[in-house]
Amino acid sequence: MAGVLALALAACAEMNVVACAGMAGVLALALAACAEMNKEMGEEALLYDRLGGKEAIVAVVDDFVANVAADDRINGFFANTDIAHLKAMLVDQVCEASGGPCVYTGKDMKSAHAGMQITEEQFNAMGEDMLKTLQTFQVPERETNEVMTLLGSMQGDIIGQ
Ligand code: HEM
Repeated sequence: MAGVLALALAACAEMNVVACAGMAGVLALALAACAEMNKEMGEEALLYDRLGGKEAIVAVVDDFVANVAADDRINGFFANTDIAHLKAMLVDQVCEASGGPCVYTGKDMKSAHAGMQITEEQFNAMGEDMLKTLQTFQVPERETNEVMTLLGSMQGDIIGQ
């Protein structure tokens, strides 16, 4: 399919405007078909959808925050935190980052953790709490890895701030 599209684009460059516009319509259809094919082949499914959408993310965040609250290594940080707000922010963040329709409106990770001096050990403790949650929900290995990679990518903005 990609080869056909490349050829069509090359042909388009040789045409006048009207013919090219017609070609663009055909290309749009071809691209839509392409997306559908990928979907059927399971290549393009968003992490958001593979996790089970918003409802599943809310359940995951609930369980994760309960794990953190029970984790003596890090729960002291949250003594004065508005937990309902934190959960809402985490849901929006994971939902948006996994390709879902949410918009995260919270602080950026550097500002959110400024002055906390979080260590790598504490960051890893939270990672373990998330892993425990993903195992509880029997999230498959591929999606577990993607969620953990997502969290890991924020490490530099969270520790030592
Ligand atoms: C990848 C890992 C993490 C993510 C994605 C994350 C995400 C967030 C988010 C979205 C907020 C809310 C920001 C806002 O209110 O606008 C937040 C706040 C907070 N985070 Fe993290 N965080 C992570 C790691 C950690 C770690 C390791 C700790 C401590 C051990 C921590 C402690 C806190 C605390 C105490 C707050 C609340 C501050 C307040 O009460 O306003 N976070 N975090």
